Amino acid sequence: MKSYDGFYTVRGYQLLEHEKKLLTPAMEDYLEMIYRRSLEKESLRVNEIAELLNVQASSATKMIQRLAVIGLIDYEKYGYILLTARGREIGAFLLKRHAIVEQCLKNLGIRDTLLVDTELVEHHISMGALQNLEKLNLFFEKHPEAYRKFAEFEVEHPFHCP
Ligand code: FE2
Repeated sequence: MKSYDGFYTVRGYQLLEHEKKLLTPAMEDYLEMIYRRSLEKESLRVNEIAELLNVQASSATKMIQRLAVIGLIDYEKYGYILLTARGREIGAFLLKRHAIVEQCLKNLGIRDTLLVDTELVEHHISMGALQNLEKLNLFFEKHPEAYRKFAEFEVEHPFHCP
């Protein structure tokens, strides 16, 4: 994993903070998913998003309209979903935040509940704490011997691993 890529992510976070009152965790999930898919294909349809998030097309439409109202995506009825520049920046931050939290929990030995726990943490963690988690990920990545020691310790003192 690359080290903390400063400005771009910090700006994504600032934009997210700015939208905080308007953006619910569910809307964050949509935006993260739309951004994730936008890396693979240029445009998306509501049905694809509904399928990916395992929700009804009608609820996906509602959510996408809400994201369009606050200017994070461009969406026309029956048309394609496109991220605006601001939506893309926030989406990039959301995806990165997800990856940092997931990697950290993985390092701590979480397996079966990895996705659920990542979802629980990611929507509420502060930027400061997130940066520290990333630093810890980086430390383990740069010092595999330290991670080995940590893993050995874990064998001697098993963590509660649901
Ligand atoms: Fe997520």
